[in-house]
Amino acid sequence: MQEKQSIHGSWASRWIFILAATGSAVGLGNIWKFPYITGENGGGAFVLVYLICIAFVGIPIMIAEVYVGRRARQSPINALETVAEESGSSKSWGLIGLMGMLAGVFIFSFYSVVAGWVLQYIQLMASGALNGISAEEAGNTFNGLLGNPGTLLLWHTAFSIMVIFVVAAGVNAGIERATRVMMPALFVILLVLLGYAMSTDGFGQAWSFMFDFDFSKLSWDAVLVAMGHSFFTLSLGMGTIMAYGSYMPKKASIGSTVLSIAALDTIVALITGLAIFPIIFSNGMDPAAGPGLMFISLPVAFGQMAGGQFFGFLFFVLVGVAAWTSAISLMEPTVAHLVERFGWGRTKATVTLGVLVWALGIACLGSFNFMSDFHIFGKNTFDFLDYLTANIMLPLGGIFIAVFAAWAVKAKYAKEEIQVSDTAFALWRFVTRFIAPVAVAIVFVLNL
Ligand code: PHE
Ligand code: NA
Repeated sequence: MQEKQSIHGSWASRWIFILAATGSAVGLGNIWKFPYITGENGGGAFVLVYLICIAFVGIPIMIAEVYVGRRARQSPINALETVAEESGSSKSWGLIGLMGMLAGVFIFSFYSVVAGWVLQYIQLMASGALNGISAEEAGNTFNGLLGNPGTLLLWHTAFSIMVIFVVAAGVNAGIERATRVMMPALFVILLVLLGYAMSTDGFGQAWSFMFDFDFSKLSWDAVLVAMGHSFFTLSLGMGTIMAYGSYMPKKASIGSTVLSIAALDTIVALITGLAIFPIIFSNGMDPAAGPGLMFISLPVAFGQMAGGQFFGFLFFVLVGVAAWTSAISLMEPTVAHLVERFGWGRTKATVTLGVLVWALGIACLGSFNFMSDFHIFGKNTFDFLDYLTANIMLPLGGIFIAVFAAWAVKAKYAKEEIQVSDTAFALWRFVTRFIAPVAVAIVFVLNL
C-alpha cells in the first residue's frame, strides 16, 4: 500500500498536515467551550482531568486515527474496511465511520450557530457599539442576540455558506492559506489578552480557580464532560483526523506530528482560560454563566483596554477563522465518503450535506427563542446535540477506534505506519489497548 495516493488530493508536506490538523483542532472548542465548561464545572479539578484525558486518551487515539487514514488513503468508512481486511479482520469496523459522519452532522449544526455569534460580534466590534461597555450591558447585548432568531439565522447562514465554499473547492488549497497566517495571529492576540488579564486584580483568583485542584467539586458528570471535551477539542472520534490523515505524506512520523498538534491545541485552551477568568472575577461576573461566557466577558475587557476596539475586532475575526477551519474539517469525512462511494462530484456532495446541516442548525438557534420549550431528555436541541456528540458519540467512536487500531490490526502494520521507536510504539500500543478504552468505558459506566 506504500505508493497509494488519495483521490481527494494530499498535503504538500508534514508541515502542512500539522497546519491543517491544528486548524481543525483549534476552534470554538478551545476559545468558547473550554472556558465555559471549566466555569460550570468548578475549575481546577476539571482542568486536571481534561489534561489527563488529552495525554492518555486523546493523543493515543489521535495517533490511531492518523495511521488508519494514512495507511488506506481513503475516507473513514473505506479506510477502516481496507485496514481491517489487510489484517484479516471484519469489514464491519467500517461502521465506526458511519457513526462519525452522523456526529459530524450534529456538531456542525450547533457549531455553525456559535460561529454565527462570532460573526455578529465582529460587526459589533467594528461599529464601536461595544466601546466602554459595562458587564451588565454586555450580558444584555448577548441575551438580546439570542432572543433574535432573524439575526441568528442570518449569521448561521453566512457561516454555512463560507464553509461550503471552501469544502466544495477541496480542503487542500483553502485550509493551507487560512491557517498559515491566521493561527499565529490568533496566538499573538491571545497573548495580548493574556497580558491585559494579568494586569487586572482578578488574575490571582483566576489562576487558583483554574489550577487549584479541589476534587470535592468534581462529579462523575464533570469527569464525563472533561473526557468528552478532550475528544471534541482534538477533533477525535468521528473521522475528521482520519480523513485528514489520509492526505498526509508517507514520509512523516505520526508520533511527533500528533504531539505537536495536541500541544498547540492545549496551549490555546489554557491561555484562553487564563485570559477570560481574570476578567470574569475582576468584574464580579459569574464563572458558571454558561455558553455566553466569552461573549459577555471579553467585550468588557476590550472596552477597557487601550486600542481595545481594534484588538477586539481582530480577535473576533481570528476566532471566526479558527471556527471556519474547524467547521470545514467537520464536513470533510462525509464529503469524501459521498465522492468515493457514490461517485458524486465534490460540489454536489458539499452542497447536499451543507443544506442538511444548515437546516438542522435552525433547530439549534431556535433553542434560544422560538423553540425554547422543545426538550429532548430535558435539554434544548442545542444543548442536547452538544451533549450527545461530545460526551457520548465521540468517546464511543474513540473506544472503537482504539480497540480496532491496537487489537484488530496486526502490530507490524501499525508499527510500519506510525514510524516511531520500538519503545514509543510499545508504549502507544499498551495505552491504546488497555488504558484509553478502559478509562472511557469506566467513565461511561459510572455515569449511568
Ligand atoms: N476541534 C474543534 C474545536 O475545538 C471542533 C471539532 C470537533 C472539529 C470534531 C472537527 C471535529 O473547536
Ligand atoms: Na480544539
